[in-house]
Amino acid sequence: MGHSILLVGSGGREHALAWKLAASPLCDRLVVAPGNPGIEALSRGDVAGARKISCVSVGAEAIEALVALAARERLDFVVCGPEIALVAGLQDAFAAAGVRFFGPSRAAAEIEGSKAFAKDLMKRAGVPTAAFGSFDDVAAADAFIAQQPGDVVVKADGLCAGKGVVVTSSHDEARAAVRHMLADRAFGLSGARVVIEERLIGREVSMMALCDGTRFAMLASAEDHKSVLDGDRGPNTGGMGAYSPSPLVDDALTAHIGRTIFAPTIAAMAAAGRTFRGLLYGGLILTPDRGPMVIEWNCRFGDPETQAVLVRMQDDLLPWLVGAADGQLPPGGPVWRSGLSLCVALAAEGYPGQVRAGDRIEGLADDGQVAATDAMVFHAGTRRAGDGFVTAGGRVLGVTGTGVSLVEARQNVYDTIGRIRWPGMHFRKDIGLRGQS
Ligand SMILES: Nc1ncnc2c1ncn2[C@@H]1O[C@H](COP(=O)(O)OP(=O)(O)O)[C@@H](O)[C@H]1O
Ligand SMILES: [Mg+2]
Repeated sequence: MGHSILLVGSGGREHALAWKLAASPLCDRLVVAPGNPGIEALSRGDVAGARKISCVSVGAEAIEALVALAARERLDFVVCGPEIALVAGLQDAFAAAGVRFFGPSRAAAEIEGSKAFAKDLMKRAGVPTAAFGSFDDVAAADAFIAQQPGDVVVKADGLCAGKGVVVTSSHDEARAAVRHMLADRAFGLSGARVVIEERLIGREVSMMALCDGTRFAMLASAEDHKSVLDGDRGPNTGGMGAYSPSPLVDDALTAHIGRTIFAPTIAAMAAAGRTFRGLLYGGLILTPDRGPMVIEWNCRFGDPETQAVLVRMQDDLLPWLVGAADGQLPPGGPVWRSGLSLCVALAAEGYPGQVRAGDRIEGLADDGQVAATDAMVFHAGTRRAGDGFVTAGGRVLGVTGTGVSLVEARQNVYDTIGRIRWPGMHFRKDIGLRGQS
């Protein structure tokens, strides 16, 4: 008998997970809470396992309602996308109800939920990361900044949906950021404590690993594109695109990262009584002089990286998730398709500032996809309107495709994008090209 799965979340990441999980022969049913119109539409299309998928309007934060939903629908395995639900204790609630769950406990999710906790853990475990201090007091923070030889980065301790970090270029700017967080409480309680760290220089890569508490299996590397404009210019966003694998991360570097970064972190979590089972995502900077160093840990699949990574995954994802959840990860690592993949986010007018919603999206078929292309369209911010879709968020769609070469992958994705339009739609034209330099 296969699994009846509950997938929690509503973004492009969850659309990609739904598409991949439904294709598993070990999946009988996939209920997504709350899902999104793209996932809902997928169930009417012709992708593998489409008919297994349904969406139920229970939000990712409604812990009790999710547990009740799983009981009512007899769902036996839960996969959680968003960090906020994990940090709030969604795993613990399902564990109490006796339901298997892919994702860390509340105690283990602290590795993302508190940057100060993560930094202390890494320091104890000897994991390479920027020098830092943690402060809840403006005067002490100012004194620390004054001692730093170079520029610093100021981070709110808690979850801020990617908006709680200021990379500064002067100590004045750093002091202002500290005041903004600690005194003005710009991020509420998430900013009641700040981490101030040394500003590192180097290219960023995202490394995700499936962890069963003691062992881990690394997924293909990826690079995210945070800036809104081509050439990494303009303000930061939730991510305008990603590609996988990163040309900077070869097998030797992957092994090095596993040995010096993932292994000691996972061991330290277990030693602290916070055994990590789920997806551990390291945001790394490859420094020219000190090797790979950790910028931050996330306790869940990245978005948009997951979209790019999953379309290249040859293996069935489900046995990996079940194995991690049960503390029995399969041996070895997942098999990947050759070539590379690319995800390009299509954003609404105004993003990453105030966005306009309700623009009618042209080019999508009834299943939410672009007809006659093998690129996937993962929905992140859409709403159903009549028989079509309209924009309902900053990042609206993630168009994701593969190719044996970068030229082919880019052609696949950008040809598909060329058939989608709405007033104010914008996207980066240079996703993947950074890999060339
Ligand atoms: N120590 C650092 N040196 C240089 N850049 C940093 C440093 N820490 C963070 N950054 C930059 O800020 C971004 C966001 O920081 P991160 O710690 O990943 O927080 P979050 O993703 O929660 O916003 C990183 O992707 C990186 O570009
Ligand atoms: Mg980050």
